[in-house]
Order: sequence, then structure tokens, then C-alpha cells
Amino acid sequence: MKGLILSGGHGTRLRPITYSQQKQLIPVANKPILFYCIEDLINAGIHDIAIIVGPNKEQVMETVRAVEWDARISFIFQDAPRGLAHAVKISRDFVGDDNFIMYLGDNLLKGGSADFIRDFSDSKVDASLLLTEVEDPRQYGVALVDEQKKIIVKLVEKPKNPQSNLSIVGIYGLTPRIFEAIDHIKPSWRGELEITDALHWLIENGCNVRYGMVQGWWKDTGKTEDILDANRLILDTIENENNGSVQSATITGKVKIGKNSVIREGSAINGPAIIGNDCIVSASTIGPYTSIGDSSEIHSTSISNSIVMEGARIDRIHQITDSLIGKNVILKKDDASHERKTFVLGDSSQVML
Ligand code: G1P
Repeated sequence: MKGLILSGGHGTRLRPITYSQQKQLIPVANKPILFYCIEDLINAGIHDIAIIVGPNKEQVMETVRAVEWDARISFIFQDAPRGLAHAVKISRDFVGDDNFIMYLGDNLLKGGSADFIRDFSDSKVDASLLLTEVEDPRQYGVALVDEQKKIIVKLVEKPKNPQSNLSIVGIYGLTPRIFEAIDHIKPSWRGELEITDALHWLIENGCNVRYGMVQGWWKDTGKTEDILDANRLILDTIENENNGSVQSATITGKVKIGKNSVIREGSAINGPAIIGNDCIVSASTIGPYTSIGDSSEIHSTSISNSIVMEGARIDRIHQITDSLIGKNVILKKDDASHERKTFVLGDSSQVML
């Protein structure tokens, strides 16, 4: 069994962050989302993985190569986001005659996908899907199952009038039969070759497409709220670990502090929270549900339910909450100028003062 992880696309719903960062590299609890996917496949016993890369291919390749993985990892370049089925199509040489798991690199699954992958590899089905009930199925691929809830009868990508509330989760068990299906489909209204259409073609052509239901939570981290939700869900699972130094500051709940980080007097870290390596926190309140990236400095500030990426400098900001703060951001209160403010802001930045 092989693994195919998708890490391309423009991530437009996460701008401005995604102007400079590939969305699958956005850190959740200080680890790129993509790494959770790679680890999940390796845990499930898959050691031959290809990653589809797109616009920021160097960034993805560099980040993945900086870690030693218990897997052979190769990269396949997709010139533009032409759809999930297109990504599969260009991976034909990598897949060969093997069955494979396609994993969308912005999907997080509690408990991982090992059970789903085992069931798929023990079966003789042509494809296997993971489904879950969602509030607004119009944003997803939707499955209609028969009355006995045994088989999928229909699959539709982002239907305007969904016939069920069962969404397709971004982890697919596929066999080389999918290539024949992809050869028969046409691009959708959004100009993409949809894997949902290819899977529907398999069903229509008498193939055996099975499904399982997600146990626990699933997150498709397409928007800021989803990233913050995922951060909360992962932080709920951390344990206490202190590799830095805490100088008469208050620590409550589960808190992870990285190497060489210093939490100075007058600070409070309210877990669950994670502080990366080489950080300085002084006279600040961090957490709950907050991740601070490596080499950040936080002074006289309080931050909750937020992700602050590496290299941030935040000084005297009274209350930051529900925020996603990119790399190397400087955020300071300037007491001297009450009226006039000077900003250097990237496209689509949002500032609330
Ligand atoms: C894609 C699939 C969709 C699936 C979703 C899961 O949507 O096309 O069928 O339900 O992933 O994350 P997209 O992320 O392209 O909107």
C-alpha cells in the first residue's frame, strides 16, 4: 500500500497567510498540519509516500526534508490546482499496480486512519471512503447511502441541494481502477477534475465502493476558524513538558515549554498551551488554547485561543484572542502616537484596534 498526500493549491480562504506560506504548512500546536498526515500514514504502516506539491513546492519540500521520516518520501509537481482527480492522474507512475491511500494534506483526523486503512487493505473493494455527518454539506463532497446504510448509491461534489448530510472526508482508499474512472470524467463547474465524480463513475459502472464512518473528530482546515479549532483539539491532547526555564511565573493546566525558552516573572501560562523553543515571555498571560511558535518574544500582552507563528514580536497588546498571526510579525502598541498610526500591511490583512 502506498500513500499519496496532497499539498498543493492556493489556500485562498486563508489569505493573507497563504500568500507566503503553503496552507498545509500552517502550524497546529507548533507542527505543520502536513506532518500529522505523514505521521498518520507511517503509523498505519505505509512507508512509500508521494507528496503532490504546487505553487510553493520548494517550501514544502524543504520543510519535509528537514525531518527524518521512517518512509521513502518523493514529490510530484502539479502545475496548477486542477482537481484531486488530476493529482491522482499525474501520480500514475508512482502508484503503479498498488492500492493507495489519498490523503488531503489539510485534513486532521483524531485517532488517525490506521483502522480505516487496515479495513481497506483486508478488503477486495475498488475504493473505500470515510464519511461523517456535517452541518453544511454544500461545502463538501456528499454521499447518498441506501436505506440499509450498506452501500453508497450516489456521490455529488458540493451540491446546491444536498440529499444527505454525509460528507466525504479527505482520506480515500483507492485502487488502480480509479485511473480508468478519471479518464472518463470531465472538469466540473469549478474547472477541476473531481475525485468525487471519478468515484461516482466507479459506482455507476458496477464497482464496489465501500464506506466507513469517522470515529471521533475530523477537521478540514480550510479557514482560520478551522485552524483554531484544530489547534484546540490537538492542544487538548498534550501533556506537561518543560524544557525551558520558568522564573516565578504561574503555570496551570497542560503546558509544553520548548528548549531555551524563558517564562519571566509576572507571566501566567494557562494550559492547554504550547510555547516553542527559544521564546521569551514576560509579564504576559498566554492561553488557554494558544500555540506560540519558536523564537517569539511576548511582552506585557495577553493572548488566548490563538496561533502565533515563529519569530513574532508582540509588545503591550492588551488582549489578543481568536487570532492567527503569521511568521515574524511585529505587533506593538505605540503609546507615543495616539492619533497617527503607520502601518505596513500585506494584502487582505485585518486590523482591529
Ligand atoms: C475536497 C473534496 C470534497 C471533500 C473535501 C474534504 O474539497 O473535493 O469532496 O469533501 O475535500 O476535505 P475541497 O477541499 O477541494 O473544497
